[in-house]
Amino acid sequence: MPETVLITGASAGIGYELARCFARGGDRLILVSRSESRLNQVAEELRKEYQADVHVYPADLSKPGEAAALFHRLMDAGLHVDVLVNNAGYGLNGPFVENDYIEESGMVQVNVTALMELCHLFGAQMVSRGRGKILNVASTAAFQPGPLMSNYYATKAYVLSFSEGLAEELRPRGVTVSVLCPGATRTDFFDRAGMHGVRLADGMVPVMKADRVARAGYRGLRKGRVIIIPGIVNKFTAQSVRFTPRWLVRKLAGYLNGGKNK
Ligand SMILES: NC(=O)c1ccc[n+]([C@@H]2O[C@H](COP(=O)([O-])OP(=O)(O)OC[C@H]3O[C@@H](n4cnc5c(N)ncnc54)[C@H](OP(=O)(O)O)[C@@H]3O)[C@@H](O)[C@H]2O)c1
Repeated sequence: MPETVLITGASAGIGYELARCFARGGDRLILVSRSESRLNQVAEELRKEYQADVHVYPADLSKPGEAAALFHRLMDAGLHVDVLVNNAGYGLNGPFVENDYIEESGMVQVNVTALMELCHLFGAQMVSRGRGKILNVASTAAFQPGPLMSNYYATKAYVLSFSEGLAEELRPRGVTVSVLCPGATRTDFFDRAGMHGVRLADGMVPVMKADRVARAGYRGLRKGRVIIIPGIVNKFTAQSVRFTPRWLVRKLAGYLNGGKNK
């Protein structure tokens, strides 16, 4: 039966590819990001290609209160969400104390607070209906600290830990929670994070295509998997951290996140 799927960050990258997966599967879509014009383009494309029922809701999730406002706008429109995909997010490269504080705290708002708030609001509704699915997008960065992207790695550690805990809480109540942990993926992410010249973004690690990452997330969600790590290299990287001394993990991550000045 078709479900109503809310995807944040659906205007580009992994979120856009996730929207394509759900549209192909015949689901109704609610697309969220800041850029209304880009969302309208995506909606038009999905209507043409898959005859999908698509609704566009622009929102800036870096602003406190926007997640709750989005929830109430959807309630007023009579749109009930069966599947919540918290994908919107961004990173920032560079020494934390030298980066712009508004950008750093906005990142916590988007990657953590809005995600948590949407899980609370929609999660409660799912529990009352006795069914629902949540997919939160973390990263392989969630498994380790990351010098020169310390705040970003910490936000993703939160998403992984929170999602795993919530998965156990909600499973007996009919709601599945999955967490997608991509490694480096070819999207606009590196540009927004200011990662030109950074080793991680410059071919030192394999970079996956966004459609492959999204398909892995979609399949994992459908199967009710809790942790979804797309790609064999990413699976290995995430696991290897457990057997590597913590000081070495920090040094390696800092090396990969550096390199702007070679
Ligand atoms: N690419 C990677 O290497 C990688 C690796 C691991 C995890 N991830 C995670 O994957 C997720 C998707 O990233 P991506 O790689 O697809 O990056 P992307 O291409 O830059 O897409 C990010 C999406 O989030 C939206 N967004 C950003 N700020 C927002 C805000 N304040 N309010 C609402 N929406 C906002 C963007 O739309 P607007 O600009 O229109 O708002 C866009 O749709 C993120 O959570 C990211 O941390 C990415």
